[in-house]
Amino acid sequence: MTPHLSRRALDAPASPIRRLMPFADGARDRGLHVHHLNIGQPDIATSSTMRAAYQAFSDEVVAYSPSQGTLSLRNALADYCRSNQLHGAQKPVDPDQILVTVGGSEALLFTIAAACDFGDSIVVAEPYYTNYKGFAHLLGCDVVPLTTGPEDGFDVDPARLSARLAAHPRARAFIVPSPGNPTGAVLTTERLSQIAAVCREHGVFFVVDEVYREFVYDDELAGGVAPSALALPDMGEHVVVIDSVSKRYSACGSRVGWLITRNASLYAACLKFAQTRLSPPTVDQFAAEAAVRTPMGEMRANIAAYQARRDVVVSGLNAIEGVSCPNPAGAFYLVADLPITDSNAFCRFLLEEFELDGETVMLAPAGGFYATPGAGMNQVRLAYVLDIPALKRSLRIISEGLLAFQRRGNI
Ligand SMILES: Cc1ncc(COP(=O)(O)O)c(C=O)c1O
Repeated sequence: MTPHLSRRALDAPASPIRRLMPFADGARDRGLHVHHLNIGQPDIATSSTMRAAYQAFSDEVVAYSPSQGTLSLRNALADYCRSNQLHGAQKPVDPDQILVTVGGSEALLFTIAAACDFGDSIVVAEPYYTNYKGFAHLLGCDVVPLTTGPEDGFDVDPARLSARLAAHPRARAFIVPSPGNPTGAVLTTERLSQIAAVCREHGVFFVVDEVYREFVYDDELAGGVAPSALALPDMGEHVVVIDSVSKRYSACGSRVGWLITRNASLYAACLKFAQTRLSPPTVDQFAAEAAVRTPMGEMRANIAAYQARRDVVVSGLNAIEGVSCPNPAGAFYLVADLPITDSNAFCRFLLEEFELDGETVMLAPAGGFYATPGAGMNQVRLAYVLDIPALKRSLRIISEGLLAFQRRGNI
């Protein structure tokens, strides 16, 4: 007899980003070079201090660590918060308010699990980071979208959020990344504060996913850090901050993240979840501690590289007829409007039927970043994680590809 699979397993949403992978494999098998602008895997070298720590690790036994993470890493992370003045008017972050997890992903999973019962929901600003939906699904929760758009740079309107929470009494948390994936939008301190007030009024958690905190580009933000929810006064009970080494130190494979909360009950619940998986990875925590000591010059050079890439991509896309995208203030993603009605078909076309000088591009169709049916069908998400020459070639491929797609009768 065939073993039974759970409803949860059968209904699990496939990653919209990876769904096109077989077509990319097919393109490669045909000898094409595929520029991967579809996933946030940076090409930038991993932090030098982190790589040195991996080489230096010499414990005879790779032992379990405490479930909440090693004290030395949590101390280093509390110092990082202090040196970046993330706490603003608030008290400094205490190491006991930091729980080390297996990537920011596990921090999100634990937070949603601690906030939501089966059948509850999380409100997310859409287009959203797709794994928010994956985690909600795993925990038997629903996703309630709060739609944002390019007309105001994908900003979150606190009044609309309030209405959404009022209409969904089983909403337990509002989750938003800032700087954003997939939009690159950065919420201002004022906006974070307004949203926090709305969350407090409705008695829901405000989960701010700050894994791209250092990647901010414009004017007063350049070379600094994005406004952090940790700086909000009097938000002890409501705010949870999600963080990770993955993007900041270009170390996605290290699998070290953490959550920060001043809510002792939420922390205690997440710690119990953490105890069931015993320990975050020991060697990677050792390396993460070293990552916090990455020289500022190295960090600044990486941020400048992303800013230069963003400038090339934004101006290049807006120069293509019918294409538009706002200038994102942070992270390394953007959502662009294309002059088509089915971006799934276009992304597949690029991989299956199109090439320019032996090359093509893989993009992420944006429909998968929306919970609202039919939304985002004219949009793609693009991650500018390649060097500028590759980005310039990719822009040409997108431009020529659009023309070829339209010539075939697709709009
Ligand atoms: C917005 C956002 N949050 C969280 C994560 C999870 O990162 P990790 O589990 O690698 O720390 C990602 C990864 O792409 C992300 O884009």
